Amino acid sequence: MAILNILKYPEKSLSKPSVPVEAIDDEIKALIKDMGETMFHDSGVGLAAPQVGVNKRILVYDAHAADPDLENEDQEIIALINPEITAKSEDTFISENEGCLSVTDFRADVKRHVRVTVKAQNIDGKQMEFNADGLLSVIMQHEIDHLDGVLFIDRISVLKRAMYKKKLLKKMKKDQ
Ligand code: NI
Repeated sequence: MAILNILKYPEKSLSKPSVPVEAIDDEIKALIKDMGETMFHDSGVGLAAPQVGVNKRILVYDAHAADPDLENEDQEIIALINPEITAKSEDTFISENEGCLSVTDFRADVKRHVRVTVKAQNIDGKQMEFNADGLLSVIMQHEIDHLDGVLFIDRISVLKRAMYKKKLLKKMKKDQ
């Protein structure tokens, strides 16, 4: 088990589409464990493999964030392999103050679909399909975007994105 380094925008590989996983072998299973540990360490509710430098279609999320009624208090992750959104509601809402472990010191409101249907394999390779709404719906849209090389800052207004980039450049210059 290990805490992995999370890549930060403007790292180029974050904008690269990821490739499907062909076999869920020991290496993939170890990666998933490390991704879970890294996500909890950095207080995230979801994490996608490209964020730790692996451009493969894998995401993990906090089982409790997805289902607040879970009785077990232990930290628990759910991993999805090759997830895809197969249906989305026409109605949208504003996901307030969305953030990302790969986008430092910035949050913004993002327009999201209210409900999505997700098809994926679990860690045992079992194919499944489920409906997500609420926080789980946002996590699915945000993390599957990562697998397509899309960050939440790609989904905000040009003006807001420009403001963030300017702020980031300033900070990077200062830190040099
Ligand atoms: Ni993110």
